[in-house]
Amino acid sequence: MELKKEFDLETIVTSEFPDVLLEQARSFMELMMQYRCALMEVETKLNVLNAEFTMKNNRNPFESIKSRIKSPQSIIEKMQRKGYEMSVKGIEENLADVAGIRVICSFPDDIYVTAKMLTNQDDIRVLEVKDYIVNPKPNGYRSLHLILEIPIFLSNEKKDMKVEVQFRTIAMDFWASLEHKLKYKKNIENAEDISRELRKCAEASSMLDLRMQALRDRIEASRE
Ligand code: GTP
Ligand code: MG
Repeated sequence: MELKKEFDLETIVTSEFPDVLLEQARSFMELMMQYRCALMEVETKLNVLNAEFTMKNNRNPFESIKSRIKSPQSIIEKMQRKGYEMSVKGIEENLADVAGIRVICSFPDDIYVTAKMLTNQDDIRVLEVKDYIVNPKPNGYRSLHLILEIPIFLSNEKKDMKVEVQFRTIAMDFWASLEHKLKYKKNIENAEDISRELRKCAEASSMLDLRMQALRDRIEASRE
């Protein structure tokens, strides 16, 4: 991973940059670096679980793992929208999704098995669980959201960082990606009808998830 440029303040500020802003820019970048470290920690844990699960079960539970740091623009937009104090401390205290990981699983039950394995680890603290699989959002959105706290070890401190982990199946991700792309507004013509159709699509893809999982079980049972 190329880290140098991203954390090199000289590449973003000029000599006439005011000291007070420079100090804030420095602590903002330091916080972002710490969130990146927290992402690395959680990603490593997921990679370890993937390796062990794959060896024991002869298939990998994760289709893909994607992580991202929230962009400065999105951070500012959310802080303003929620009316939080605009400061580096305010970001750290109020936002739980600056560091985000999306884990795409093969089958619905892999989500719960692997999420449990992760949250059972003794250096991870679960701050919040939102199960939109058992309780889908009204629009049909499904995923398991966890807000975790994980320590990172810096040169002279140990610091707990928040990370949002979203677990979904390929089918849930397919629906969420397209729904996001549609960016559909509630005040358009036939809005009710479109909402209903979106929800039906989510239900259809959820049925497909369960049928594929049942198929996997039948194939595994016939192998034994
Ligand atoms: P914010 O974190 O302030 O956005 O609100 P929240 O904490 O209530 O959010 P929630 O945990 O419900 O969802 C956070 C993230 O889940 C979003 O940033 C999206 O990535 C994803 N998400 C939630 N709802 C939807 C949805 O209806 N459609 C899609 N495509 N993604 C969603
Ligand atoms: Mg949230």
